[in-house]
Amino acid sequence: MSRSPKSMRINGPCAVRGAIRVPGDKSISHRVAMLASVAGGDSSITGFASSADCQATLDCVRRLGVEVERADEILVVKGRGLRGYRPAREPVRLDAGNSGSTIRMITGLLAGQRFNSEIDGDESLRRRPMSRIIEPLTLMGATIKARDQNFAPLSIRGAALKPIRFASRIASAQVKTCMLFAGLYADGQTTFSEPAPSRNHTEVMLRQFGARLESTTDEPAVDLSIEGGFELSPVTYLVPGDVSSAAFFIAAATLLPDSRLVISGVNLNPTRTAFIDVLNRLGAKVVADGVRTVNGEPIGDLEVTSCALKAEQPSTVLAGHVIPNIIDEIPILAVAATQVEGRVEVRDARELRIKESDRVSTVADGIRAMGGEIEEFEDGFAIEGPQSLKGGRVDTAGDHRIAMAFTIAGLMARGTTEIIGADCAAVSFPEFYELIAAITQEGTLEHE
Ligand code: S3P
Repeated sequence: MSRSPKSMRINGPCAVRGAIRVPGDKSISHRVAMLASVAGGDSSITGFASSADCQATLDCVRRLGVEVERADEILVVKGRGLRGYRPAREPVRLDAGNSGSTIRMITGLLAGQRFNSEIDGDESLRRRPMSRIIEPLTLMGATIKARDQNFAPLSIRGAALKPIRFASRIASAQVKTCMLFAGLYADGQTTFSEPAPSRNHTEVMLRQFGARLESTTDEPAVDLSIEGGFELSPVTYLVPGDVSSAAFFIAAATLLPDSRLVISGVNLNPTRTAFIDVLNRLGAKVVADGVRTVNGEPIGDLEVTSCALKAEQPSTVLAGHVIPNIIDEIPILAVAATQVEGRVEVRDARELRIKESDRVSTVADGIRAMGGEIEEFEDGFAIEGPQSLKGGRVDTAGDHRIAMAFTIAGLMARGTTEIIGADCAAVSFPEFYELIAAITQEGTLEHE
């Protein structure tokens, strides 16, 4: 099968069975490539994500003059220290593609350099807000120009950064990472806090690289302080499987009768597994086994067996502090909610509207295209189930998580579902359709 079919047809319903692995975690891969690029020596990374987004990060660090070699499954990033970037020209021009993580995180490193850079991305990325990083980096002394002071392309004039205390209004791991990365270059202690804890991979990983990081948890907020001016040590790193990629398979195995899947080597960091907790709360059977800690991150194998799901009375409401920890899984959660007996409501999720697509709208359009019903709110949605979905034409709007969520919906629906723009799944999961084909019966997937 071609890895990136433009359009995909799914003939449902169909069970899923087997044992799989998912690609390396996207969030962790971005971070390890960036930190390794400014560490003082060679880092060896196993299991680096195959996603187009993480390739964009690797391309950026290469353009900054850092050598990256791949030997079999191991990626070697030849870090040259905090000030070792040697771009071939100035300003160096970087392309983040579709990746919000690449642009927001690497800008934190670029703000502390002594050369000027420009970073841009595709049409979708150009619509996503950047003032959330421009504001604090400007307070630290960097000069960043952007279209309407908010949108890419960004042009960054690095500076000798000042340490600041910054309280973010939003819980965003990308903003937190940008600030902590810039803090590596500041002359003193930079402190960051956020209103609810977002994924904590940066904090865990900075310690692996030997950074001087302190955290005080004042539940639910977290205060983090980083001491600037200290070089990082290289690492030997194993990237675990991406639980956000596994989520599509967890939902499929739970919702499709007679299914059973084992997904091995998955990252089980508690700031990422709220989706599993929510499914289990609704009655799912997702069991973790063999959990161990590697490079500070928990990894385990998941066993998922199909079972009927039921919401709490009068409804299961997902809102507040849980939202940052399920934010990327909300499209597949919406698809799952159509099969749950009762009402599932998602609130406080305004951030969904400024992801790779407006995910409240694209999810609602997809569910309606398959004959389902959904109530849309400015900050979320509500779904009453169970609903019987039928095959329909779903437009991904170029959003990888919409493509994958509605492929799973197609497995649940009666008839043929067509996913228009299916190839964007490669943004996070190039092997997605091959894996689906491997665990379903022949003839379930057809592609152009
Ligand atoms: C990510 C953080 C989240 C998430 C994104 C990856 C990260 O974004 O949606 O897919 O790796 O830090 P925000 O920081 O915008 O919430």
